[in-house]
Amino acid sequence: MSAAIQQAPAQPILTLAQVKKSFGGAHALRDANLDLYPGQVTALIGENGAGKSTLVKILCGIHQPDGGELTLDGRSIRVRDPEHARQLGINVVHQECVVFDNLTVAENIFVSNRPKNGRFIAWREMRTRAAEILRQLDVSFSPDMLAGQLSVAQKHIVQIARALTSEARVLILDEPTAALSHREAEDLFRIARRLRDAGCALLFISHKFEEIFSLADRYVVFRDGASVGNGMIAGTGSEQLIRMMVGRSVEQLFPKLETTLGEELLRVESLSRAQEFDNISFSVRQGETLGIYGLVGAGRTELAQCLFGLTAPDSGSIQVGGKPVSIANPADAVRHGLAYVPEDRQQQGAILPFSIAANVSLTNLNSLAPRGICSRQRESALANHWISALGIKATGPEQNVGDLSGGNQQKVVIAKWLARSPKVLILDEPTKGIDVGAKSAVHAVTSAFAQRGNAVVMISSELPEILGMSDRILVMRRGRVRALLDRSEATAENVVQAATDA
Ligand SMILES: Nc1ncnc2c1ncn2[C@@H]1O[C@H](COP(=O)(O)OP(=O)(O)OP(=O)(O)O)[C@@H](O)[C@H]1O
Ligand SMILES: [Mg+2]
Repeated sequence: MSAAIQQAPAQPILTLAQVKKSFGGAHALRDANLDLYPGQVTALIGENGAGKSTLVKILCGIHQPDGGELTLDGRSIRVRDPEHARQLGINVVHQECVVFDNLTVAENIFVSNRPKNGRFIAWREMRTRAAEILRQLDVSFSPDMLAGQLSVAQKHIVQIARALTSEARVLILDEPTAALSHREAEDLFRIARRLRDAGCALLFISHKFEEIFSLADRYVVFRDGASVGNGMIAGTGSEQLIRMMVGRSVEQLFPKLETTLGEELLRVESLSRAQEFDNISFSVRQGETLGIYGLVGAGRTELAQCLFGLTAPDSGSIQVGGKPVSIANPADAVRHGLAYVPEDRQQQGAILPFSIAANVSLTNLNSLAPRGICSRQRESALANHWISALGIKATGPEQNVGDLSGGNQQKVVIAKWLARSPKVLILDEPTKGIDVGAKSAVHAVTSAFAQRGNAVVMISSELPEILGMSDRILVMRRGRVRALLDRSEATAENVVQAATDA
């Protein structure tokens, strides 16, 4: 262990004491306490809706606290707005990526502090400095590219680059890896460690324990808007952190139910689409959960989008309930009993300005409004059912989905499709961004769905989830099926081996 960690750390750079914040009647933060030390990474952990992102927004001046105190270098401060936060050296990479697609990478990096030459923007300097930062980050894209052409992961890098344009004393990463591949996440951690070693205080928010244990020096646990524990990571186990987060131990992370397999519900034969996937065949039966494992880029999402009619296959066929069907668009897919919970909830999942009730009933209008009139009462009863089944943290069925925490938005998307009572549910990374307790709730709900005689196709990059919940596992690599393993024969080793070049 390095001397820097063993020494009692210096005074905290930034502290929060008894900070409070409510929205309408809802208390997002009741009693938030936090100390951030120079040269250390502090992990902020807590369930979905515990108040983590709200705290971040207070630290960077997006929200003003209702009470409590913030200090920087021992002096009480009020962060007026994000610009002011930057001047104070507090930089943030937000959970929801905010990049302007129609600006170049360099313009995005310097969006709020463009270098000036008198009254004019110093374009050349801006470009040079952007190129320099990108070089430091070891990335290969040009500062002249339009941000709209970047992948989600690259957009995150642009946000990080933005945080590096001014000297960062405090850097906050709010679930930065949810959209990143393993490699990209490793790159990000390399950058984070470098900043930490240079004396920056980092706050790191993640639901992934491996990452917390690999990156963080300390932890703070939040529950229901209050800090309930903190300490050093060394000597602390995940069990202990989970108990603090959830208030109990989570015994059954993968509550898979016994099912009996029935008729075949979906069969895919030799399905191909150029550049995406090639010659894919599989089937799923009533009661069955088929896991699809692969690395990011293996073609899993592209396959799901094609099954759901979002894209057209070049060749191959699909059968539903033993009969050949043609699925030209999502409406066809829904008519044949398919549902698809996409990976990207912001783009394709929920309608953010609408209430939970409206989102859950939207895909469900046929049964709620048989004569074209939608009963409010039925709508809110349905929403309430799902709020309790999935433990959605909300003030009620009328709350706008856009005001929910990230993980709770994801639960609404799952509810929205389950409420439609499909026969085959296709889930793409269903528990991304979801806390441990809620993961178990999502698994319990989908397993019960399969037990009722339906089928689940679950795409996931999380090996324990795939091994824990699947009856059979289809492994894809570079657009092709590399293995189809039965639950009894699948192990972490043979699944990973099939997914990686061997
Ligand atoms: N603008 C807002 N209006 C109303 N309620 C809000 C608003 N922003 C946050 N909340 C509520 O405050 C609570 C805390 O949300 P927050 O986003 O801080 O959670 P989180 O800990 O970041 O969760 P996650 O892990 O899901 O990202 C939630 O119940 C959320 O619904
Ligand atoms: Mg959050």
